[in-house]
Amino acid sequence: NPGSGICVTSQVLILIYLMLIVFSFASQVRYSVPEEMVRGTLVGNIAKDLGVDSQRLKTGRARVYTEEGTEYIELNVNKGLLVIKERIDREQLCGKITPCSLNYQVVLESPMELHRVSIEIIDINDNDPTFESQSFQLEIIESSLSGALFSLPSAVDSDVGINSLKSYALTPNEHFNLKIRVEPDGSNSVSLLLEKPLDRERQEEFSLLLTAVDGGERQRSGTVEIKITVLDANDNAPIFTQELYKATVLENSPVGSVLIRVYANDADKDMNGKIKYFISHISNNAQNLFEMNPDTGEIKLVGPTDYENNKMYEMTVQAKDYGGHVSSSKVIVEVIDVNDNAPFINLMSLSSQISEDSLPGTVIAMINVQDKDSDRNGKVSCVIGNDIPFKLKSSLDHFYALETDAFLDREKTSQYNITILARDEGEPTLSATHTITLDITDVNDNSPKFEQLHYKTHITENNSPGSSFFSVRAKDDDSGINSRISYFIQETRVSNMSISSFVSINSDEGDLYAVRSFDYELLNHFQVSVTAKDGGSPALSATVIIDVFVQDQNDNAPEILYPVLNKGFPVAEYLPRTADVGSLVTKIIAVDRDFGQNAWLSYKIIKTTDPTLLEVGLYNGELRTLRQITEKDSTKQRLSILVEDNSGEPSHSATVTVNIAITDNFALALSEFNDFTQEQVAEGDLTFFLVISLVIVSFLFITFIIVLTSLKFYKWRRSKYFNECSNGTLPVIPYYPPRYAEVGATGTLCHVYNYEVCLSTDSGNGTKISVEIKISSNVNSNPTFTCRRSNRLKIAYLNARSIKNKAREWELHVTECN
Ligand SMILES: *[C@@H]1O[C@H](CO)[C@@H](O)[C@H](O)[C@H]1NC(C)=O
Repeated sequence: NPGSGICVTSQVLILIYLMLIVFSFASQVRYSVPEEMVRGTLVGNIAKDLGVDSQRLKTGRARVYTEEGTEYIELNVNKGLLVIKERIDREQLCGKITPCSLNYQVVLESPMELHRVSIEIIDINDNDPTFESQSFQLEIIESSLSGALFSLPSAVDSDVGINSLKSYALTPNEHFNLKIRVEPDGSNSVSLLLEKPLDRERQEEFSLLLTAVDGGERQRSGTVEIKITVLDANDNAPIFTQELYKATVLENSPVGSVLIRVYANDADKDMNGKIKYFISHISNNAQNLFEMNPDTGEIKLVGPTDYENNKMYEMTVQAKDYGGHVSSSKVIVEVIDVNDNAPFINLMSLSSQISEDSLPGTVIAMINVQDKDSDRNGKVSCVIGNDIPFKLKSSLDHFYALETDAFLDREKTSQYNITILARDEGEPTLSATHTITLDITDVNDNSPKFEQLHYKTHITENNSPGSSFFSVRAKDDDSGINSRISYFIQETRVSNMSISSFVSINSDEGDLYAVRSFDYELLNHFQVSVTAKDGGSPALSATVIIDVFVQDQNDNAPEILYPVLNKGFPVAEYLPRTADVGSLVTKIIAVDRDFGQNAWLSYKIIKTTDPTLLEVGLYNGELRTLRQITEKDSTKQRLSILVEDNSGEPSHSATVTVNIAITDNFALALSEFNDFTQEQVAEGDLTFFLVISLVIVSFLFITFIIVLTSLKFYKWRRSKYFNECSNGTLPVIPYYPPRYAEVGATGTLCHVYNYEVCLSTDSGNGTKISVEIKISSNVNSNPTFTCRRSNRLKIAYLNARSIKNKAREWELHVTECN
């Protein structure tokens, strides 16, 4: 290879040449020139400095030689000056090497001369400190501790020496500062020093300017923007908005109701700030009652609430972020009472029956009322109806005593249904009832009562013994044995005999039986006292009086009192021939021992000598002439007269024969009688006999009437109106009681009675007066006497003796006035 041969040759030549230079350097010249000079700038007067003239330079063909081959310098041969040929950049030429020198040889030929010229390039501050990029990203976690260092990019300044990088500066801030360290190679490294901890939550980004300055006279600088992003650290726990949450829920609220929402804040970011909620602790009674939505913090009801079981629930809720930080809060759920419980009536004690003689205030039951609700919902009041004799008395709250409030009477009400109503004050109100059935037990507090105060009954005479003729009934309002009645007859005497020989009674039924057959004519009235007695202990009784009237039966035939047969002789009547029409011939007198209608007599002629001559009064028995008597009429008239009691079934009768002698002459008449009488009677005795018989008959008749009337009076009035005559007093003889029949029947006093009183004075002159006695219905008041016939008589009421069988006896004093 011819090329490489030449090269080797020239290298060898250079080596030789260098050896020559070393030996032939005559002098060395030093210059210094700042970099960046324009072309032509004078570096140095080489000719002068080398001591050669310009001619030599020319002739010697002086030139500049450098091994680097780069010729920044040229030699102006004519002037002998070294000038800048090309701009010199020191940094390019030497970089960091200092001093930076260019070495030249000035070569002169003929003779060969080598002169060393060294030119030092002097640095000028022409370069800024520079960073690699305009900005620098730095991420720092906020949890970094103070004193942490973060490397920053260094700046580079190409200049050297004093012009090179001198220092850094940072935008003032409270967190960061710079730390500059001198590396072993002498360079500075800059770091960011964390002086104060960061808080992402306060400031997430920083933008700082890092300035690098050099030391040149005209200082230059370069900057880089440091962008710091603070990275989040999970340094914040969630924080609940409240320490205690309070929620209320109506009891029995539907499942699913949202009660409350809790909320926690977490200052951290993203996942560090993402929170889940949960219930960390809950009382046993609330297990499965509430549910927490982990994302929203809503607490939901998932079970039934009952105020009466639990009035409050407490739970601890927690909020947890993803970094695991936890905080908790309390939730109190208060249950609000709803009136969902009716009151409850509890009978603590109860008597289901009480005696009717219990005093007011007797306790029947003790009652306790309860209501599980609270406040007004649980406030219960109790009432009972106010139309019953009971009351509720409350001694303690919720306790009541049911008491009687009045006297009880089983006979009015024997059973009470007492309904107790308990009612709370809720809205709407709830109530409960309880009914107590209370039986009132009997006490023998009612005597038997007869249906009537007084009984009257009739029994027909000639009854068959043993027949029941009446019954009385008494009632007793009590019950059971207290109302079981037995009947008894009170022992009295009737006609001097025990009442038991007249009547008996069935003690169970009160039926009265006749023990004997009654005879009106002997006993027409008596009284029976019947006592009704109940079975209580002590027994109570009542007595009633029964007036028993014996009713008359037509069991007696009329009796002829006049004319009577005297020793078998019919009595004859005398009728003068001159008698006028309608003259009273005689009067048939008959009585009937029966009473009333049964004693009502009628008279009929059943057989007569001449029916045209005489007639008999149908009711009065008076025999009167029908016409004038003629010569033709027989002097002896004989009539059969039937006396009949009226009341039919069967009627009784009697017949009487009347003989009538028609004559003007009594003697003749007497002779006529001979025909009528038996022949045994002597004629001489006849007149006497007739006179005597007439007197006797008249006397007997009057006596009989008086006796009969008196007898009847005694029977009925029981001597009520009969006053005995005594010395100096006037007997009041009840002669004509006008309301005879009524008195005995009613047993009460009549208002007015009329009496005729016979006054027999010492002188023996009889005077008849009528006395009217007025008695007021009040039997105790004094009667009034008035004198009817003679005003000259003064009647003084003397004494009301006694009350006997409701009749009075009076003593009257009568004086004659002048
Ligand atoms: C009380 O109640 C009972 C049962 O309901 C009933 O048989 C009875 O007749 C009632 N008594 C009164 C006095 O109302």
